[in-house]
Amino acid sequence: MRKKPHGPAVPLIAVDRKGEKPLHRQIYDAFRAMILERRLHAGQQIPSSRALAAELGISRIPVLDAYAQLLAEGYIESRSGAGTFVTSSLSDQFLSARPAVASVVSDPPSDAISRVSRLLPLEGTPWFLGSGAFSVGQIAYDHFPFRVWSDLVTYHARRVRASSMNYSDPMGSEEFREVIAAYLRTARAVHCEPSQIMVVNGSQHALDLSARVLLDPDSPVWIEEPGYVFLRHVLTLSGCRLVPVPVDSEGLDVAAGVKLCRNARVAYVTPSHQYPLGATMSAARRLQLLEWAHSSGAWIVEDDYDSEYRYESMPVASMQGLDPGSRVIYIGTFSKTLFPSLRLGYMVIPPALVSRFLAVRQSNDLGPSHLYQAALADFISGGHFTRHVRKTRQLYAERRNALTAALRKEFASEIESSQMEILGAEAGMHLVVTLPPGLSDQKISARAGKEGLWLWPLSAAYAGANVRQGFILGFGGTKAEEMPQQVRRLRKAMRR
Ligand SMILES: Cc1ncc(COP(=O)(O)O)c(C=O)c1O
Repeated sequence: MRKKPHGPAVPLIAVDRKGEKPLHRQIYDAFRAMILERRLHAGQQIPSSRALAAELGISRIPVLDAYAQLLAEGYIESRSGAGTFVTSSLSDQFLSARPAVASVVSDPPSDAISRVSRLLPLEGTPWFLGSGAFSVGQIAYDHFPFRVWSDLVTYHARRVRASSMNYSDPMGSEEFREVIAAYLRTARAVHCEPSQIMVVNGSQHALDLSARVLLDPDSPVWIEEPGYVFLRHVLTLSGCRLVPVPVDSEGLDVAAGVKLCRNARVAYVTPSHQYPLGATMSAARRLQLLEWAHSSGAWIVEDDYDSEYRYESMPVASMQGLDPGSRVIYIGTFSKTLFPSLRLGYMVIPPALVSRFLAVRQSNDLGPSHLYQAALADFISGGHFTRHVRKTRQLYAERRNALTAALRKEFASEIESSQMEILGAEAGMHLVVTLPPGLSDQKISARAGKEGLWLWPLSAAYAGANVRQGFILGFGGTKAEEMPQQVRRLRKAMRR
């Protein structure tokens, strides 16, 4: 059972024992100001007179006097047995119009923040805010093995020792890295030793570290066009020069990349399941990309974000496993296979770069926390992870089938006449549906978001101007039986 907390937080009040104003008046004034300026909000509990006196190091009498005055004037009320609270019915007209924190967010003057940070959009995009049908990155929360997971977390939480409370190994716990290495060698054909594995706070963290280690301002970098928008944000902050390279049904077009910029320092790719269009990079292209990296001394960052989920064939092996010369930095995550707020992912770093990555990691994060690493290591070695992936693979295949069937029914004539296309439904937890000419995905998404329908516009995935209009539709979090109704809502949103 949850224990009652120790009581409300004590507000920050400075009292001056030698000041001219008596103590009770100082306390009264401080509370009154905090209530009128809404720093203490209506209905909020305030500390007992005993607790406040102890905190301020004064006798209880001035506190009792101040509370009596506030009570008499109606700023606070006492509820028998529960404590003392800011009056819940204070009329707005008494309260300051100025909230404690400005609610309208606007950029400070341009010389007050960095130039690169100003290059990122301030998130006001409605499709980014919500979760529900079609929002990308949602998993089947309803099928998560909560019992097993919470038992493991509880088990480790109860066995906290001094060693697990200290800073952890910045590469990640040894036991966890061994478990990850064994999984990657078996399931993803990755060549790795535990000493090359770095546990990170999700693949976003790994993308950021890779940019800090590998790139200088102005370094040319290949990115997939279209590609992952938050990778673009990371690279924008590094100041590097983005070279968007088109993708086709075989993944990144390496020859086009060479033509655009032969001497790029890094190529960022999603070979197992190109984000967002869904192609699997062909063997020929993988070898071509590796050959280019070796001959030009470039690095490849392989973002293997959802490769566990393939529906028409076995998962395809990683590209890192094809590379004898260690030009590939491999990144993976538990956000799709388990849940995104876990914030656990991993990278496999070429031996020559491990110490560099470690030095840079310690400049922005001193290491992952112990508890979830320990719980997840047990979850994987106990076979629960493999079982869960197997179960959800089948579940997501059903959800994918339901979504494609509903799209084919609802948009039969548009799909028949090739005005709309369904792309990338063979793997992962999202697919792409393109839009007929004349429709703007961002306009539709903005409107639909207000009605709780989260449509990620395809055009936002492009770095250049030559964009396709469409939606990236997540299907991991929506039950198969709900798909037809959600697709009808999509159709309505498009009609409007
Ligand atoms: C292509 C791609 N890379 C990286 C990520 C980041 O995932 P996370 O930081 O949750 O591991 C995502 C998330 O959806 C993604 O789609």
